[in-house]
Amino acid sequence: MDATQNTALEAIHEEVRRCQRCPLHVGRTHAVPGAGPCDADIMFIGEAPGFHEDQQGLPFVGAAGNFLDQLLQGIGIDRSKVYITNVIKCRPPGNRDPQGDEVGACRDYLDQQIEIIHPKIIVTLGRHSMARAFPEEKISLVHGQARKVGEYTYFPMYHPAAALHQPSLKQAIEEDFQKLKQLLDGQVKPNEYQAPPQLEQLSIDRKSVV
Ligand code: URA
Repeated sequence: MDATQNTALEAIHEEVRRCQRCPLHVGRTHAVPGAGPCDADIMFIGEAPGFHEDQQGLPFVGAAGNFLDQLLQGIGIDRSKVYITNVIKCRPPGNRDPQGDEVGACRDYLDQQIEIIHPKIIVTLGRHSMARAFPEEKISLVHGQARKVGEYTYFPMYHPAAALHQPSLKQAIEEDFQKLKQLLDGQVKPNEYQAPPQLEQLSIDRKSVV
């Protein structure tokens, strides 16, 4: 483990714990920066902390977390080997969906976490997390497909909490974990991601006004 990398990640964790960038800090017990080794090959990005995560300051420690542990064990990976975080770092009231301004306030933390860890694979859990890399996609169409976006390989999956309660999604996430193993073993290669045409146009328009 690289000491500089570890110090940089710890500094972000500390900044998140003290963060007051959006109103969610008012109601939190603990912010939940993320957990795992700074040199992890796989990074999981969920949506937002829930009740148990807020209580403990750790990601995925409730029912969805137990299921995630089982899924990891099913492909021979221990949780201690992966880095886990969320799109937003504080629990929204009543576990409602993250709002755009909250995602925006936390974006820079997630960008920095990705940059420091530089994972081989970024697994997005749920549509809010997927939207970061593929804002125009539908999770039902793209889950379980590895795509390269710039220097990173993204692998979108359903959220384990949703999969816990819907048998069809449970089967899909179990199958996607097998595909993740194939990807890790080099049996499957990621495709280069092509943004839908309207998005490409949007990014061209943006570049031309900057
Ligand atoms: N759901 C998430 O998206 N993140 C957590 O940390 C826990 C549950």
